Amino acid sequence: MFQKLFITGAGVSKDSGIPTFRGADGFWTIGSSNFTPQEMATREMYCENPAEFLLWYYKRFASYRHILPNEVHFWLADKNLITQNIDGLDGKAGNTQYISIHGRLDKVTVFQKQENMVPLHDAPWDIVANSQIDLDDDTLLKRLLLELFKIKDHPEYGHSLKPFVLLFDEYYTELYRISEAEQEMQSADSVVFMGTSFSVNITSIALRYALRNNAKIEIVDPDPVDLNISGIEYHRMTANEYISELNGA
Ligand code: APR
Repeated sequence: MFQKLFITGAGVSKDSGIPTFRGADGFWTIGSSNFTPQEMATREMYCENPAEFLLWYYKRFASYRHILPNEVHFWLADKNLITQNIDGLDGKAGNTQYISIHGRLDKVTVFQKQENMVPLHDAPWDIVANSQIDLDDDTLLKRLLLELFKIKDHPEYGHSLKPFVLLFDEYYTELYRISEAEQEMQSADSVVFMGTSFSVNITSIALRYALRNNAKIEIVDPDPVDLNISGIEYHRMTANEYISELNGA
């Protein structure tokens, strides 16, 4: 049976107004030092500097929680989809089966060892937004975030909360549905990568399956990285232009 799999990254949510991950606005300053998302979005930062981590996460991601899906998400709603995006826009567009392989910004879990399965709970972002504190006061905001995430000095296993997001120094586990994702990659005879810069592991894993299975590989990106692999079909255009072209517009 013909099985087409779409793998999406930050590029597909750009038209909804969410900046891509590696754009120029990605930096974050603590004291006099600048940190990249790759340095901020780590389990180490969450454990060692939870207040700064939560403040960054709240400002960098939680502020996008009310953003709406765009035409690309709606077009993908009935497709086999694995997304690296944590924005949840594919769910809002009606895709009920998609795998958000890096987690979801609207959920938290109890902090646990990575391999442990833990239930998902709603993230407390609205409680923060609706609180009486001055949200521009970082000191007060950090204090509130620590309280809501049940962190005293450092997060404690089984007690504190952690955003449901796969951090750069974490590995893919069943909590993030890695076996299901690999099963989809294994059964796909056509894989379309959209709006991803191929800088995280899941894209390498998907590429490896696709190459091994002789699957058709397509990349939709106005400014794609050259993977130096023969036989890949490049669509040098935005995801929106791509779906318009397919729809014959
Ligand atoms: N349509 C399609 N692609 C686009 C568009 C668009 N409208 N606009 C930008 N792009 C492309 C860019 O050219 C770039 O190659 O989308 C890609 C976005 O790359 P990144 O910002 O690196 O995003 P992504 O590949 O998703 O990697 C970010 O890394 O940090 C982790 O978990 C995080 O999922 C996130 C991932």
